[in-house]
Amino acid sequence: MVKVFIPHETRPETRVAATPETVKKMVAAGLEVVIERAAGSGSHIADNDYEAVGGHLAADAAAALATADVVLRVNAPSPEQAAQMKPGSLLIALLSPFDNLDTVARLADGKVSALAMELVPRISRAQGMDALSSQASIAGYKAVLLAAQRLGKYFPLLMTAAGTITPARVVVMGAGVAGLQAVATAKRLGAVVEVSDIRPVVKEQVESLGGKFIELPEQEESGEGKGGYAKQMSEDFLRRQREIVTRHVAKANVVICTALVPGRKAPTLVTQEMVEGMGSGSVIVDLAVAQGGNCVLSEKDGEVDHGGVLILGPSNLPAETPIDASSLYGRNVWALLQLTLGEGGAMQLDLEDEIIDGALLTHAGDVRHGATKEALGRNTSNPEGDAK
Ligand code: NAI
Repeated sequence: MVKVFIPHETRPETRVAATPETVKKMVAAGLEVVIERAAGSGSHIADNDYEAVGGHLAADAAAALATADVVLRVNAPSPEQAAQMKPGSLLIALLSPFDNLDTVARLADGKVSALAMELVPRISRAQGMDALSSQASIAGYKAVLLAAQRLGKYFPLLMTAAGTITPARVVVMGAGVAGLQAVATAKRLGAVVEVSDIRPVVKEQVESLGGKFIELPEQEESGEGKGGYAKQMSEDFLRRQREIVTRHVAKANVVICTALVPGRKAPTLVTQEMVEGMGSGSVIVDLAVAQGGNCVLSEKDGEVDHGGVLILGPSNLPAETPIDASSLYGRNVWALLQLTLGEGGAMQLDLEDEIIDGALLTHAGDVRHGATKEALGRNTSNPEGDAK
């Protein structure tokens, strides 16, 4: 019987990689599911909620890790935890390979097959496995709530007996999954929302949510590159973009930054001068902070007060909405795990499957992802690979 282990994530992570809903499905599929005690506590899932659907609690978490055929995690294990996994076992997690090179090396050397959720190709068949989208959407939502909570002003237009309150003005930088959810959330709260993005298709999406698209500087080529993602733009383009956006930022009460370019440092879209042009009491939430930030003054997981402008740099907002984040992430993981199961729940990794092939970071002693392999200084077999 294939044994699946769900460990307790290292705090401050509050999410968990499987919920009673997905454990029930795993058990029904013929898997033995072992859960570390209190693994779900950060997401308000009690141990006996897992037991009620056929999961077992681990008597000894280290032994469960060392004997598991499959380990399901939210974040990458530590190098030590990776080294404890048994050869031939499968790991599924948001592995952030570039931030966890030691772990990747241990996984490869230990012959663990590691599927990185962020490397799942964004094809229609894999939509149910798209953890980047499920988690980014939560981050976009929560970023607006965070800004609304810290802003000393209403979001909606209000007509009161004491006079009219004008709505808050929100500028969203980057309208991918997180940015579009930020637009929708800010609109629901009644703000006036403007958006800057470099992919032309975004304009219609933003307008359909009631936002206003800030027209781009003239450019020779589209900002859309491989796989529908943004391309890295020239420094000259970014300078002209900032010139245009500055006017909008100066009038904004809130700026939500979500602009990213896969495999690159996040573009600088809010300079110190732009922050100094904003009114005191304004709030910037920089979700791009883990990739270097869109605002030059943001600090990872920090709060900066620059002349009365508050700059927040939360790097893990999904963990602040753990109930739904775990529920969606757990479903993403289960959808991917199902692809690795053959008849009667036996493990079967089909390397010909585009999704498995794309997401499989380490396998049979090898690092299969070109850019990660290069970063580790190992010989490259797939130079095209580019992790986010
Ligand atoms: P992302 O997190 O890589 O980037 C966020 C946003 O930043 C993107 O919209 C990008 O265009 C924008 N950006 C980059 N440089 C910028 C700049 N200088 N100024 C302003 N904005 C800038 O993107 P995310 O959210 O992961 O998704 C991007 C797109 O990928 C989606 O809109 C969609 O087209 C595609 N996608 C496809 C899926 C599927 O087919 N299953 C699922 C999810 C996304």
